[in-house]
Formats: sequence, C-alpha cells, structure tokens
Amino acid sequence: MSFGSMHRKEDARFIRGRGNYTDDVRLPGMLYGAVLRSPHAHARIVSVDTSAAEAHPKVKAVITGQTLEGLNLAWMPTLSQDTQAVLATDKVRFQGQEVAFVVAEDPYSARDALELIDVDYDPIDAVIDARRALAPGAPVIRDDLEGRTGNHIFDWEAGDRERTDALFEQAEVTVAQDMLYPRVHPAPLETCGAVADFDKVTGKLTVWCPTQAPHAHRTLYAMVAGLPEHKIRVISPDIGGGFGGKVGIYPGYVCAIVGSIVTGKPVKWMEDRSENLMSTAFARDYHMHGEIAATRDGRIQAIRVKVLADHGAFNGTAQPTKFPAGFFHVFSGSYDIEAAHCEVTGVYTNKAPGGVAYACSFRVTEAVYLVERMVDVLAAELNLDPAELRMRNLLKPEQFPYHSPTGWEYDSGDYPKALRLALDMAGYDKLRAEQADKRARGELMGIGVSFFTEAVGAGPRKHMDILGLGMADGAELRVHPTGKAVLRVSCQSQGQGHETTFAQIVGQELGIPADDVEVVHGDTDQTPFGLGTYGSRSTPVSGAATAIVARKVRDRAKIVAAAMLEAAPEDLEWADGKWSVVGDPATGRSMAEIALAAHSNLELPEGVEGHLDAVTVYNPPNLTYPFGAYICVVDVDPGTGQVKVRRFVAVDDCGVRINPMIVEGQIHGGLADGVGMALMQVMAFDEDGNHLGASFMDYLLPTAVECPSWELGETVTPSPTHPIGAKGVGESATVGSPVAVVNAVVDALSPYGVRHADMPLTPANVWRVINGDPFRT
Ligand code: CDP
Repeated sequence: MSFGSMHRKEDARFIRGRGNYTDDVRLPGMLYGAVLRSPHAHARIVSVDTSAAEAHPKVKAVITGQTLEGLNLAWMPTLSQDTQAVLATDKVRFQGQEVAFVVAEDPYSARDALELIDVDYDPIDAVIDARRALAPGAPVIRDDLEGRTGNHIFDWEAGDRERTDALFEQAEVTVAQDMLYPRVHPAPLETCGAVADFDKVTGKLTVWCPTQAPHAHRTLYAMVAGLPEHKIRVISPDIGGGFGGKVGIYPGYVCAIVGSIVTGKPVKWMEDRSENLMSTAFARDYHMHGEIAATRDGRIQAIRVKVLADHGAFNGTAQPTKFPAGFFHVFSGSYDIEAAHCEVTGVYTNKAPGGVAYACSFRVTEAVYLVERMVDVLAAELNLDPAELRMRNLLKPEQFPYHSPTGWEYDSGDYPKALRLALDMAGYDKLRAEQADKRARGELMGIGVSFFTEAVGAGPRKHMDILGLGMADGAELRVHPTGKAVLRVSCQSQGQGHETTFAQIVGQELGIPADDVEVVHGDTDQTPFGLGTYGSRSTPVSGAATAIVARKVRDRAKIVAAAMLEAAPEDLEWADGKWSVVGDPATGRSMAEIALAAHSNLELPEGVEGHLDAVTVYNPPNLTYPFGAYICVVDVDPGTGQVKVRRFVAVDDCGVRINPMIVEGQIHGGLADGVGMALMQVMAFDEDGNHLGASFMDYLLPTAVECPSWELGETVTPSPTHPIGAKGVGESATVGSPVAVVNAVVDALSPYGVRHADMPLTPANVWRVINGDPFRT
C-alpha cells in the first residue's frame, strides 16, 4: 500500500534551506523593479513627473500609466471579468495602488528613485464603508467604466424565494441576525513577486512568479499582451504559502514583464510586507443578514440571507464565472431544510481589490459562518442545546446523494456519526456540567459547536470556468525502462505536499514505491494544461487525473505482461501490485519487469507501440463534499476580555486519506488560521481609507501561543465520484473553525444576554460586548 503517513519528499530540501523561491532566482545582468504606490485612497492624478527619477544614475527605466497606455496595457482583466489598472492613469482608487514602476541596477536604487517621482494628486472623498457605497451622492469610484453612475457591481440570487418566503410567513419561530465576516488577508510568509526575462532574439518570455495557477497565467498573458502562448513560459518555483492570494495576476507581474521588454534585461520585482498587506488580494468582507424559520421543537425549515459584498476598487474576486458570489449558495449547510434563498449585492469601495478564496472554496467560509452562527442564534431563542439542535436537523446518511435547495448535489456523508464522535471526544456532557459549575461561580467558560459541509474540487466543465477556461486538469505519466516513473501535473503546491501525495497515488495504482515517482509541476513548458491549486481542488481534480492516468498505464502494462506470459490479456488479474495469470500468483510480473519488457524487443500485439506512458484530461463529474464537526472550548477573562482557546476537537471526513500525516498538518494549519480570524484579524481602514493593518505588528498572525493542542478525529466516507474516493481537505479547517471559536465565545458571554458578536473577538471587542456596546451585541 502506498497510502499512509510517509514523510514528505519535499521536506529534504525545505528543512535544509534548499528551497528555490522566486526571490532566489538570479539571472545574469538582472535589473530590479520597485512600485510607487498611492498615499491616497481616492484621488485624481493631475500629473506625474518622472524626470528626476530618470536622471538617477542607476535607473534604467521609469514606467507610468501613460507608458502602458501606449502599449494598450494600462488596464488588465480581472478574474471576475472586470478591469483593473496596472498603473493608474486617471485616478487612484485605493491606498497602495500602483502608480509608477522604476527599473534600476539594484533594488535599493529602484526604491530610492521612487522618492524622486513627483505625483500631483487631487484628493476625492473616499467610500470606505460598503453600506455607504450605494447611498445617493456617494462618490463614483469607477467613473472609468462607461455609463457607470454608482458603485453597484452586481445583484445575484440563488434558491427559491417564493417557497422560502412562504415558509417564513407560516413559521412558528423565526430568528434574524446581522453579522460581518471582516476583511482578512491570506498573509502568506512569502510575499508576491516576479522575475521576467524577455529574450529579444527568440521572442520567448519566461516569468518566474509564485503563482498557484501557472497555466492560467500563461494563457492570460497571451490573450492580454498578444504574445504567442508557445513563446511564454511561466515557472512557479517553491511557494511560501498561497492560500488563494496567489491565484490572480498582480500589476507588479505585468510591470516586471514590461520592464524586461523595455530594457532587454531580466527584471526582478519583489514586494515587501506592507505592500503585500495593502495591495494584494483580501478575502471575505461580507455584510450578512441571516434569518431562520423553524418549528418550536427545533426543526429548521428555511434559511434566508441578504449579503452586501465589499469587492474593493476593482472587482477582482476569484470564482467560476457563473457565480459572482462564489459558492456562497451552499449556505443551507449540513441540514435537511425545505427551502433557502440568498441575495448578494456586490459594491465597489476605495479598498484593494480581491475577494479571493482564502483557504476556502469560493465563499464557502462565509456561508458556513453564516449558517452555523444562525443555528446558534436559533438554539438560544429556543433554549435548546446547540449540539442537540444540530443533531435534530443534520442530513441522514440515506439522503445522499443529496440535492440541496440551492442546487448542489452533495456526494456522500454520515453527518450524525461525525458529530457524535466529536461530542464523545470532547466529553460534551461533562463540559456542560463543568460550565454550569463555573457559571455559578461567575467564571466565563464557553463551548462552541460547528458542523460544516464544503463544496470543493472545481469543477465540472459544464458548470464552471474561469474567464472562459474550463476547469479540467491534465496529467501525463511516463514509466522509464527500470520502472521509475515521472508524473507531470498542472496543479502547483504551496506547501501541501503534492510531490509526496501524488507520488503515493501513482505508487498505489502501479504497485511501485512512491519514492520511485517524481512529480513535476509548476512549469508550463513541462506540464499539461490545467487550472491550478486553490479551493482544495488539487486532490479532487489533479489527484483524480493522476489516478486515471496511472490506470491507463496499468492497462497498457497488462497488454505487455500478457505478451511476456504468452497469455491473453483477459486471462490476467492485477493482484499485489503485479499482473499475473488468474489463479497463478507465481506468474506475477511487476511494473519494473513490465516496463523493461515494454522498452525491449518483446513482440507486442498489432497496434501496441511499446514504452509505458499515458496522458489524460480529467473533467470532474461533480465536486466533492468534505465535512466535519468541530467543538471549541474557551475561557474568557471578564476583567480584560481576553479569550483563551483551551481545547479544540476537530473531526474531519475527507473521504479516503492518501497521507494521513499531511491531512492532519493541513487541518492543524487551518485550525490555527481559524483561531486567528476569530480572535485577532481584521484589515481595518480609517474613514479616509488609510490602511491600519499594513504590518504584522497590526495585522496579527496566530502562533502556537494562541493555539491549544489540537484533538483530531476522523470518519471516512469515500466520494463515489472520485476514482480513489478522496475528497479535498486543504481548507476544511479554515472553513469550519472560525465559527466554532465565535460560537464558544458567544456561549461564554451568554450570561450577559449576548447572542452575537462580530469577529475579531479581540480583548477590546469582547470587553465592549461584556460592557454592553449596542453595536456589537
Ligand atoms: O488543492 P490543495 O492541495 O490545497 O488541497 P487538497 O487537494 O485538499 O490537498 C491538500 C493535501 O492533502 C495534498 O497533499 C493532498 O494530496 C492531501 N490529501 C490527502 O492526503 N488525502 C485526502 N483525502 C485529501 C488531501
């Protein structure tokens, strides 16, 4: 068996400091770029004077919006079919927006020369609060778009409005709650950057950048810049964390390319921490109003949601084209409800663009947060235990495949089993007894429960594309004469361990050690087309492609083995990693033996060409639907508002686990992320649009200090549509954990009559809630 907790192959280089990141790329004659950014959130550009910068002895080029306009590159398409300024021409629309690009002999001179550029700005009122974006008289942010008179981007709805409304009218009980999923940032430790090298002789452009989607980048460069696609090579080397923030194309990438074309030299641009936090893609920023209709004995009948989505200055959210609110319409969650309806309105504000799927499958995190908070609000209204209320409403195993009221087909699951396991692991009844004792003594202890269903593995071509590119993934597998294999895939690891787990899939299918399989990825010249790694899609799509291509090779090996054994292929069976004559294991031929024979002068049947390789393109028939039950225990200090996460039990079901150790690592990371979002993180702005979180002193990352020792459990419900029964897992914990923490804190504060409090539950915010801030309770 190749599945199992083998150590990560890639760690050999990472723990020795031998990783190769974009900033490690050094080319002969390389120049360095730096970006001049706007100090204003909203201002008209009156003039840009670059003469002093150009006179700097080490400066090789200064590129402005005007330069790019001449090349028809001042604006680029976003992932949401909007446009985004590469370098501002008319106005700046958020603080930190790119205004000019300097190319110099060294990075210090490039930064120094930024100071020499003189930009005359005429400031305009900024729209920072999304709730003000649609107010009459609000400044119009996108006056570059023809006919645009306001900041409205889109209205979108899903579900059955009439049925939902009818159920609400007749309901015995209804509850409603406003809540904000604040703007947060993926904050990978490696910032964004690029090295662009345009070879004037061959006409070939090579771009190194930490992209999660190298093939999509190449195609977009070809479409936008008019460069021939076969003359573009995108290399995504090792990536120091992506989390959804490295899917799109940033202005700095385009500037580095233009810089290389203009100077004829390779150009490197690496952003610093503040630039990363201020200008690369944010996540969430959803203002949500949720309602639940239920019976008095706790049967949930319908859910209704209205969302105001803050998309920043350019609509750069990442999601399949058909779904402007991503997969938010999975908000009916894990429950057997009759009807659901949501309306989402997107607006422009003077903040950085983004709305990326930060460790999340396109807004599933927001959806899970909404429904799991609402279930707790209902539990409080009905005076029911939140775990019991969930158990009464969870989908039953016999309901799968389940057709949700907003159009999803959940593939498989045993939800009550997962929740029961989590309750048992936590010792739930004992915890409630302990809580009662503590409350009697005036101590604040909280127990938070959450249950989530994700929709991951985008996606079936008939339903999903990004900018017209279908979401199928290719895979190529070649077995060398000695039985060692090379797999080429389109997805790109940012620390998830694909070089190990994808080798394990091949090993499992071919009966060879995973160590004998090399996984090649992250280089468009070396790998087949596919849409990349985000939304936990690698295992569901590229992982499935890997299993299928390995099975194709195995079938080919069967024909060779039959020739070796002078038997008919139909008389062979695959057992213990070998092809043998049915019932005669002694005839078994291993993949290494078959591979050698396939490359030899063994006579093969008519039409069989020899060698041992195959290619495939996998178009997933459905998404996969991992799920889980989480329980968080917190203690809150009533004097300071400080929250201590004491315990966290996480039961995850991601179908068959390829590498349980890696899966657990993914869950640990996601749980820590969840604690960070729930307790510490928000990208805040003042009313003029000044960014208040542009360093890790202000935008806090969770560490081991804030995290308990995670208690993990698992159930395994294979996906019926995935060739090895695996579901994605990379983001489950980030999706399910923030709301478990918030539910725990609200539970702890319930003696104060608190039913809801918005993230982040910092000591100051919790203190305000305890002390009756009407805006937060
Ligand atoms: O797309 P991304 O790699 O971020 O997410 P994923 O497909 O959920 O995979 C994350 C890591 O966990 C990969 O190395 C997977 O192969 C591994 N995994 C696993 O071992 N078993 C599963 N059922 C799911 C993922």
